[in-house]
Amino acid sequence: MELQSYLKENWIKQQNTELNELEINDPLYQAEEELAESPAFFFDQDKFAARVKKVKEYLGENIPLTFSIKANPFLLNCLPETIAHVEVCSPGELTICQKMAIAPEKIIYSGVMKERTDIRRAILYGVGILTAESLLHVKMENDIAEGMGRQKVILRLTSGNQFGMSEEDIEYIISHQDRFPNLEFYGIHYYSGTQKKKVKQIEKDMFHLTDFLSSLEEKYGYDPKLVEYGPGLATEYFKAPYDQTEYALLGEVSEILKGFAESFPLGIEMGRFLAAPCGTYVTQVKDLKYSNETNYVICDGGIHHLKYYGQTMAMQVPPIWVLPGIGERDGSVRGMRRAAYVDNSRENDKKQSGAVAKERLTGSQEATEEQVLSVMEAVVDENDYCICGSLCTVADILVREAHLPALHVGDYLGFGRCGAYSVTEGSALFLSRKMPRIYLFSQKDGAKLMRDFVATDKLNMADPLKACLSGVSLWN
Ligand SMILES: Cc1ncc(COP(=O)(O)O)c(C=O)c1O
Repeated sequence: MELQSYLKENWIKQQNTELNELEINDPLYQAEEELAESPAFFFDQDKFAARVKKVKEYLGENIPLTFSIKANPFLLNCLPETIAHVEVCSPGELTICQKMAIAPEKIIYSGVMKERTDIRRAILYGVGILTAESLLHVKMENDIAEGMGRQKVILRLTSGNQFGMSEEDIEYIISHQDRFPNLEFYGIHYYSGTQKKKVKQIEKDMFHLTDFLSSLEEKYGYDPKLVEYGPGLATEYFKAPYDQTEYALLGEVSEILKGFAESFPLGIEMGRFLAAPCGTYVTQVKDLKYSNETNYVICDGGIHHLKYYGQTMAMQVPPIWVLPGIGERDGSVRGMRRAAYVDNSRENDKKQSGAVAKERLTGSQEATEEQVLSVMEAVVDENDYCICGSLCTVADILVREAHLPALHVGDYLGFGRCGAYSVTEGSALFLSRKMPRIYLFSQKDGAKLMRDFVATDKLNMADPLKACLSGVSLWN
């Protein structure tokens, strides 16, 4: 069963729990909050497995695949066997791997800023490969590896920014192996940016690497065991057919990569391309209103959770689907719902429908059930909506104009293809709103809760204990 049907049949139904009146009237009672199911991310593990399989098929058996976990660490819960390595870029990501018992030899410990303690932890855990992005990294890694066996290191070549080293630094290191007896310079690491849509960009990287590796061979007889390359392959977010476009790009790029792999031991690392298609973000419609000739939808999520690369001023429309909600429990909200129905009944005449909506809204309590039903029957079942989040900023617009089936308060919107970076890059602390739930979905097991809501209010205030210990009273 696809995620969409699963949610309709299980997840939404399950929320139809009636609240006890007494509980609702207790101002301290948090039941509404506890019953809330959104916002939430659903990561489809079947889709992730299928994507990894597809990429492996294109690349062939001889090119090992690395998953860059910064794109979505939750997918470590369903990492396919065929993933040779995971790229880990911070002490926090290393902790996640340790807690999830990821085999240390699978780890490539990377990152532009490494401290001695981070390197020590990584080596003590037994990571397969470390990267070095500077001369200092190489020195620290050599010092720390002393007495712990020869540590494999790949040297990151810069692509013209703060990451990696110049060709000259790498040449210096390779030609002075005797100064770094505790390290084995296992290969070269190269990454020149994300969301690459043009095959030419990847071709250029391959030419550049070929030149550099050939000169290392010629000058120093250097023979790398691994050339770890991140192609930064693009994901299609805003234009169907999504998978076909991506696979066409993958097809062309993989021919170039396989050509390179005939001369050098290539490894490919990817985040976005593997993770993006398997994510859906579900947010609930909490309010609908009409002003400035626009149908505004206010959701419980927002741009602090959901991010699409290339989304400019909310002008682009990602895949969105609507799940009918359970309806509203309270009469006044029901009035709003009628207004929204009326609003939708005026095709292409938003001004007029807005006026009608207002009028109906104020008089809505008088409408009989039959009248409401007749309005509902006359509903035009599609409309343009401006989908907004719950933050106090005019920037919190998920999509400026989306053409959708008629929405009602209580409905859910599912945003697709957000399995990469949204969950890790969102500015989750803004406005002290809760962080979304995370579910892992599979056809076999349905949706399994991986992380509950996380309250962020405590992160945006002084820690009472710390404040007390330093002599500050928070409670005057
Ligand atoms: C070194 C390195 N490798 C791989 C990746 C993953 O890139 P992408 O998500 O574009 O595949 C990144 C992303 O920042 C990176 O810095």
